Amino acid sequence: MKTIDELLQDGVEGKRIFVRADLNVPLEGTTITDDGRIRAVAPTIAKLAEAGAKVIVASHLGRPKGAPEPRFSLAPAAARLGEILGKQVSFATDTVGDSAKATVAALANGEVTLLENLRFNAGETSKDEAERGAFADELAALADLYVGDGFGAVHRKHASVFDLPARLPHAAGDLIATEVGVLKKLTEDVARPYVVVLGGAKVSDKLGVIDNLLEKADRILIGGGMSYTFLKAKGHEVGISLLQEDQIPVCLEYLARAEKRGVEFVLPVDVLVSADFPDLKTKAPANPELVASDAIPADKEGLDIGPKTRELYASKLADAGTVFWNGPMGVFEHPDYAGGTKAVAQGLLDSSAFTVVGGGDSAAAVRILGFDENAFGHISTGGGASLEYLEGKPLPGLAALED
Ligand code: 3PG
Repeated sequence: MKTIDELLQDGVEGKRIFVRADLNVPLEGTTITDDGRIRAVAPTIAKLAEAGAKVIVASHLGRPKGAPEPRFSLAPAAARLGEILGKQVSFATDTVGDSAKATVAALANGEVTLLENLRFNAGETSKDEAERGAFADELAALADLYVGDGFGAVHRKHASVFDLPARLPHAAGDLIATEVGVLKKLTEDVARPYVVVLGGAKVSDKLGVIDNLLEKADRILIGGGMSYTFLKAKGHEVGISLLQEDQIPVCLEYLARAEKRGVEFVLPVDVLVSADFPDLKTKAPANPELVASDAIPADKEGLDIGPKTRELYASKLADAGTVFWNGPMGVFEHPDYAGGTKAVAQGLLDSSAFTVVGGGDSAAAVRILGFDENAFGHISTGGGASLEYLEGKPLPGLAALED
């Protein structure tokens, strides 16, 4: 993989460089609630601009269905990127249309522009190679060089991630280089005990990684929505909690494999439950009830791990050599259900382990809950991407940068 420093050695002054970033940030209306992904890629953009390149930044945001949807506009990200870089970032209101062409043509050396959401064009995510290729051709016409630095999207075989680098001389950005370096360490060279904490809503999103980690980790701690399918698999009543009934057989198989291999597989022992999902807008008090995890009332759902589980998980993290954490332990966006996620974050900080927080919601949670992100070993910008890397799956966006 060519690095951007090698690209700079070749000279980039006056060159139009397309930077595929992942600016898929959480928004409330037009307010960015966590700008971590923008800050993470800003140094690459600044480096290229300082070297005199004309920098064209592009990203997706959310999952629009191939046509413009105002709520998924990247305009707020352009403004925030400008603030972080300390310079004006112009914004094209389309991806390959008149606005993009004019905005790129107007760039002076060292200037930066952001294109509108790539997923407003159906060619970006199309499964049809020809349709994706046609969109990649149009994107390629905007630039001379390509830098892949959208780590959070490297697991997507999308036009701007996979097809475009095949059409332009390319290099990997500094963010991708850092992310891959850390994840490689987790697959090749871990200090033990290696403790993995997995949370988040869906157990189906995590099955691949559990399958792989059962061969590598010493302990796996489970929380969040996904824990209820495991609890149900163990024969417990889970009320109206999130449940993926069709995944119960796989969960049972994993529990049996963990036992056979001597991997500690730890499930919540108590949970906070309620009959109602909390109001995340008003954050009105939710008055949850605390119950044992084998005694969830039939009309209630689990929304966070309870205090005994928090203590148990902290003790399982205390002597860790390496920790990988992906997924919140509960509905951390509401103060009454943020305690479990906070306790796990604190557990990581209190251990002397090398700690990696894997992207998406858990990375946002760490910052939104007020933790110092520099105190963690590494906070990844990739949720699905870091999981698929650890699963050992080939990642299209990395493969495309290889040659
Ligand atoms: C993410 O948030 O994990 C990345 O930005 C990828 O987004 P996607 O899952 O919508 O492809």
